[in-house]
Amino acid sequence: MNKNFYITTPIYYPSAKPHMGHAYSSIIADFFARIKRIQGYKVFFLTGTDEHGQKIQRSAEKKGVDPKSFCDDISKTFRDLSNVLNLTNDDFIRTTEKRHAKSVENLWKILEKKDEIYLSKYSGWYSVSDEAFYTEDEIEDVNNQKISKISGSQVEWIEEESYFFRLSKWQKPLLKFYSDNPKFILPESRKNEVISFVKGGLKDLSVSRKSFSWGIKVPSNKDHVIYVWLDALTNYLSALNYPNTNDDLYKNFWPANLHLIGKDILRFHAVYWPAFLLAADIPTPKRVYGHGWILSGEEKMSKSKGNILDPLEIIENYGLDPLRYYLIKEVSFGNDGNISKEKLINCINSDLANNFGNFCQRVISFTEKNLDSKIPKNFLFNDDDLKILNTYNLKCDDLINETDKQNLNFYVNFIQDQLFTANKYFNDQEPWKKKSDPARLSSIIYVSLELIRKISILLYPIIPDSSLKVLKVFNILESQIDFNSIKVHEILNVDSSINKISILFKKIEKND
Ligand code: ME8
Ligand code: MG
Repeated sequence: MNKNFYITTPIYYPSAKPHMGHAYSSIIADFFARIKRIQGYKVFFLTGTDEHGQKIQRSAEKKGVDPKSFCDDISKTFRDLSNVLNLTNDDFIRTTEKRHAKSVENLWKILEKKDEIYLSKYSGWYSVSDEAFYTEDEIEDVNNQKISKISGSQVEWIEEESYFFRLSKWQKPLLKFYSDNPKFILPESRKNEVISFVKGGLKDLSVSRKSFSWGIKVPSNKDHVIYVWLDALTNYLSALNYPNTNDDLYKNFWPANLHLIGKDILRFHAVYWPAFLLAADIPTPKRVYGHGWILSGEEKMSKSKGNILDPLEIIENYGLDPLRYYLIKEVSFGNDGNISKEKLINCINSDLANNFGNFCQRVISFTEKNLDSKIPKNFLFNDDDLKILNTYNLKCDDLINETDKQNLNFYVNFIQDQLFTANKYFNDQEPWKKKSDPARLSSIIYVSLELIRKISILLYPIIPDSSLKVLKVFNILESQIDFNSIKVHEILNVDSSINKISILFKKIEKND
């Protein structure tokens, strides 16, 4: 079995500083990177910034700075955010890097050589904000302005000489590709959208621009810059040292296992990207997952709408793990979700501080006080004990299979249930009343400590810092976490001492 896993986030436009939507994609990707790692995979996790094109050029002009130094500044805020979010990305790519230009130029040359690209003239609608071309049917008039029906962003008319990619030719091969790879686009509802879009007919795609200069030049014609989406999508190859297909990174990690993106950029990833790759005879990625939007009220949170929530502010006030937990748990994965401070506080108080933190605290201090901080031995599991422990055994493969389908909700629900069950077990067993029955007491505490270990492992991809704090109680280090060990009950070293634990989450007063 191939135990390599390549996962990517979109590369973000450094046109303004990052917001919660960007943090969301990155945190979700980090979840999948971490869970695959603790399942024994070699993971390559990529994120970065998408720095060329008219959108960036105009944003830089507005600030009166040259585009490169404009990008340097803002790209850094995205890189810093990936540290603040505790992302385990292996690389951070910028499309203004040489390694990337080399890779894009190479792809272009292949496409040109294969006669997949030809020179003609484009006239039509363009949204600089989306860096996307729209047909007449995809736009509408609102208050005397032409806007895209799909994204709501303003479009402008452009007419210029342009290179075209023979996208129309790939309509049938793409439809065949989708039916041969039924899990290429997830979730299912999004897949149907894409298929009907492709069935509706594909026009050749303009892949160069002549009226501005901020981009990678067409190798054979320096009057043109390569369309920013052809440029940007290729980042996924550049980071693996493409065009050097003998490079270990490329050999180990291409094709990508998962491009995690927002649903706004599905067309680019699920139509244009596989078409470019099929045309260039490069293997296609295994999956594109289009997640929903973080809304602000009823609207998509976005830089251009100015309704953004600053992840740094939330992290400063509430901490990183609470934000990670909240975004993963409260936004039903695949759908849009609203973010509110009230729900965030509720998550912290009820799930994190109470169900998880307080449970760990109670069991650990009970062990300190009554068992001299020792992991009990001489336990004898009864039916209650076995039932609760075996749940993990029974569900482990499902958890792996479901998360392989990005069924994050299944995973989160399982943790919720297990937190509830663990608390109920401890309360029902009443270990404080079993001091005269050492065998029973040992068993209850052993099981409870085991549950702490198992649940902390399950929580590791979501709230890594807090999970590691708890696992340290048992001297389990990050590099030793093994997802499959949730199946095993007798991992804890009996008779060894557990370490102290500090408070994991502080409850928040509602009027804070
Ligand atoms: O589209 N809710 O960059 P971008 C959830 N450079 N996710 C959101 C979001 C929201 N409100 N807003 C943004 C680009 N995102 C291109 C991508 S990839 C080769 C090039 C997330 O800065 C979501 O993942 O506009 C979305 O797809 C991405 O940020 C777009 O970021
Ligand atoms: Mg955008």
